[in-house]
Amino acid sequence: MCGIIGFTGGRNAVPVLIDGLKALEYRGYDSAGIAIAGEKITTVKSVGRISSLEKKLEAAPVVGCCGIGHTRWATHGCPTEGNCHPHMSADGKFAVVHNGIIENDKELRALIREAGIEPKSDTDSEVVAHLLSLDYDGDPVEALCRTVSRLKGSFALGVLCADRPDEIYAAKMRSPLLIGYGDGTCLSSDGTAMPRDINEITVLADGQTARLTKDGATVYFRGKQVGCERIKPTVSGRAASLSGYPHFMLKEMYEQPEAIARTISTECRGKRTGLKGTGLTLIGCGSSYNAALSCRPLLERATGRSVEVALAGEFLYSERVPAYGKQCVLLSQSGETADTIAAAEEAARRGYGTLAITNVHASTLTRTCDDYLCTRAGPEISVATTKGFTTQVAALGLLAGSEFASAVRELPGLAEKALQASEGLKNTAGYFDGGCVFFMGRGADYGAALEGALKLKEISYIPAIGIAAGELKHGSISLIEKGTPVIAICTDDRLIGKSLLSIATVKTRGGYVIGVTSSPEIAAACDEAIMLPPVHPMLSAAVSVIPLQRLAYEVALGLGRDIDKPRNLAKSVTVE
Ligand code: AGP
Ligand code: GLU
Repeated sequence: MCGIIGFTGGRNAVPVLIDGLKALEYRGYDSAGIAIAGEKITTVKSVGRISSLEKKLEAAPVVGCCGIGHTRWATHGCPTEGNCHPHMSADGKFAVVHNGIIENDKELRALIREAGIEPKSDTDSEVVAHLLSLDYDGDPVEALCRTVSRLKGSFALGVLCADRPDEIYAAKMRSPLLIGYGDGTCLSSDGTAMPRDINEITVLADGQTARLTKDGATVYFRGKQVGCERIKPTVSGRAASLSGYPHFMLKEMYEQPEAIARTISTECRGKRTGLKGTGLTLIGCGSSYNAALSCRPLLERATGRSVEVALAGEFLYSERVPAYGKQCVLLSQSGETADTIAAAEEAARRGYGTLAITNVHASTLTRTCDDYLCTRAGPEISVATTKGFTTQVAALGLLAGSEFASAVRELPGLAEKALQASEGLKNTAGYFDGGCVFFMGRGADYGAALEGALKLKEISYIPAIGIAAGELKHGSISLIEKGTPVIAICTDDRLIGKSLLSIATVKTRGGYVIGVTSSPEIAAACDEAIMLPPVHPMLSAAVSVIPLQRLAYEVALGLGRDIDKPRNLAKSVTVE
């Protein structure tokens, strides 16, 4: 969701910005634009893909060594060219790109109107440019500090000032922002958008502002200069390429055995990581929630206690019962999901100890929680997560302790076998006619069922319902008619009897059942089946989800969908 790139150095900034914007595309966006400093600031903007911005730049080239760029995911105002960033101040002095939401934009609009300035766009971001020019008396850093102190909400800001055409200014509050150093200096909301030569980064903290020159950066907190720690980037710039695969989603599916192996063998965790306390709550959104849910039986076995699993957005509004001595594990592939970060803060307020499980070490969630455990999936570009999910299951397996160590060690090999079994799903385009598809399972298989349904919805736009197999008869069964596809996931031999009953219930109503199972008995009861290798039933989602990912992929491919960048979706959802 949205992205910022900025560059100042000894070469033309435009190609650096365009490459950076392309690297940010995976996050989801609806429009994009750049601003280049010079005698006056020039902006070029376009609705839709970066390629249309490139066409505009080919028709009317712009050159300059310092500039900022943005991919917008509209929150305030439709995706039009007028609402596209960068936004200019009325006097042409400042250009601004903004990620996040300015919550008090109405009051601020009133304030700039009082000063005789009429905003041109419907965005909350434009006010920042006007405030900067009102707060400016010759020092852009001071102006930025004053302006930022007026803002409520979340923001990562990149700013150009016409009076200092070689410099970029930045500010951060609850939205990530990094400075990169190499052949020139770079600003970005996402490490993957930095040029290849960037070899050190500074992760800005909430409340900090910065001034970037071609030789480095100065960081400030409340107007006072502070130290700026440089670290090695964990993601090498532009690391992700398709390597011959038609889509990142397919490539990332095939990376799963290796990603799981890395996660379970490379120690990337804080000092006190482990299950502790008198109660455990797992929290996440979307697939991260599904991964947590699939591991509830595992963690209940490991802790000998009942385990709560909550959606981040719901946890925030649950009763504020004090939870001293209890632990919250927050799962997020990106580490930047706004609901999950807010849930981590809320958990800390209630007294929980907080542990982040995330794929991005330098993420906001890692810094928000008391401790962290990193999955080592590598950059995930496809909006629909695959290796993010399976490595989260593996990480929860690690947390569950030594009783499960040998089962966890088997996961990479089993994932490999599941990938091979999934090859049978090639060319299953037209498998479904567009009607609702059901995914059902019990225990860990229920988490996998929810994830299978989410994958299909996300990338094929076919309606899908993930349901606990026992729940079907309590209402949703009314939707089953002749030919309704039902994917039955069954990896737990103890549940074969119950699963056979559920399958029979569907088939009696004419449903078409596709089994995903390691049991020949279940397979025989289904209309067709994908055979999985036997897997520990409490860790099985890391394996059983693989054919479900492939199924969604093949169906979406057949329908000609934009697989890596499905409509309306963003890779990391940075607004609540
Ligand atoms: C996964 O395919 C989805 N794109 C989405 O549900 C995602 O899992 C959710 O937004 C949470 O993201 P996170 O793991 O980065 O926090
Ligand atoms: N809230 C801003 C807008 O709607 C920024 C959105 C974004 O982060 O892309 O323009």
